[in-house]
Amino acid sequence: MSTYQVRKTPGDTDWFRHDRFGMFIHWGLYSMPARHEWVKNKECIPEAKYDQYFKYFNPDLYDAREWARQAKAAGMKYAVLTTKHHEGFCMWDTQYSDYKCTNTPAGRDLVREYVDAFRAEGLKVGFYYSLLDWHHPQFPIDMYHPRRNDPDAFEQNQGRDVRVYAEYMRNQVTELLSNYGRIDVLWFDFSYSDYNGTGERAWMKGKGKYDWEAEELIALARRLQPGIIIDNRTELEQDLWTPEQFQPQDWVRHSETGEYVTWEACQTFSGSWGYYRDEQTWKSPEMLIRMLINTVSEGGNLLMNVGPTSRGVFDSRAENALKVYADWMRLNSRSIYGCTKAEPEFTAPADCRLTQSEDGKRLYVHLFAYPFAHLHIKGLAGRVDYAQFLHDGSELLYTEGREVRIGDANSEDDSLLVIHLPAVKPDTLVPVIELFLKD
Ligand code: GLC
Repeated sequence: MSTYQVRKTPGDTDWFRHDRFGMFIHWGLYSMPARHEWVKNKECIPEAKYDQYFKYFNPDLYDAREWARQAKAAGMKYAVLTTKHHEGFCMWDTQYSDYKCTNTPAGRDLVREYVDAFRAEGLKVGFYYSLLDWHHPQFPIDMYHPRRNDPDAFEQNQGRDVRVYAEYMRNQVTELLSNYGRIDVLWFDFSYSDYNGTGERAWMKGKGKYDWEAEELIALARRLQPGIIIDNRTELEQDLWTPEQFQPQDWVRHSETGEYVTWEACQTFSGSWGYYRDEQTWKSPEMLIRMLINTVSEGGNLLMNVGPTSRGVFDSRAENALKVYADWMRLNSRSIYGCTKAEPEFTAPADCRLTQSEDGKRLYVHLFAYPFAHLHIKGLAGRVDYAQFLHDGSELLYTEGREVRIGDANSEDDSLLVIHLPAVKPDTLVPVIELFLKD
């Protein structure tokens, strides 16, 4: 029986915690300026200028099957695609707006192709849906809105009614959850009810659950897709805690009850979410693998983001990053799927991370730094039935208890397990030792 009993929520999170690794996809008109998905906000781009992206959006190379193949090869088990980001552009053939891909040169329902392709590869399918909308005429101007600095912002805001917008969201979510078969994850983004304007802009109020009419929105989603996993970003706590762009050091706990929760870190390859041509901050291969291991070693999932280009492909840097995962996961995924934080009785040696299979029978030691000759692990003497490297299934010999010959002469600790390692680090970014524990 695992020490880590996870808080029960309405959504079906069992498969999710088992699968551990998913692909986030941020794709929209902002892939054309290619300088951040918030570009409309950051540069306060006028509507007429932003309309050019709508006019010329033509992802002629988009082949969702190719994306799905790469996701699967990387070891990802599910995906979450931006059906609509803050810019308000709809990536499917919605009946509630003209601001959609089918009215651009793309001319196709991009969400449908994604759903079909990912499902065909056996991946679970999720939708990201932005609560913010910088295009909808009824969405009140606030401190994030691209029109916030316009001299006539106040006039432009007259007559805007967030209730009309809330209904629009319900209509769209109804479409998304009715017309595309089973949807496994619904990822709303985000609430900011504390972020109010000041001074002359005091009327610019932040937005949260009351603006979104979140209770109703979520009840609707649950009616249409029982079991769907919903995140907490409507400001109503649901199934999923979503730490963003940082690495939680411990299993995320419920703020009131202290229970362990289902959590998913969302991370990027290079910093921004949408395709950003000139960004130079791409993470190293080692860091990518470590982020996945660190996450699972604290009982979480990793949702790793790709920002496709406006042509509809992953650029070479993203493909290389996915390949890093593919190479490592092909041989080492057994320490990830169905694994979680190791029981508290096990302590990771320096420079190592542990994961343990849900049934407790296998313990994995991930070597972030490769030690010379011996790895000393406390508390494991007498516990291990068999040890091997995971990547090639080759036996690792070990001794138990302190041993004068290898420098433990002064140790009082008879609980040591000493694994004997070859001098040369195996050819896998982070080698993993698989320990089969005695019953
Ligand atoms: C943030 C950003 C956004 C991104 C999201 C992903 O809330 O607004 O651009 O989609 O995080 O977690």
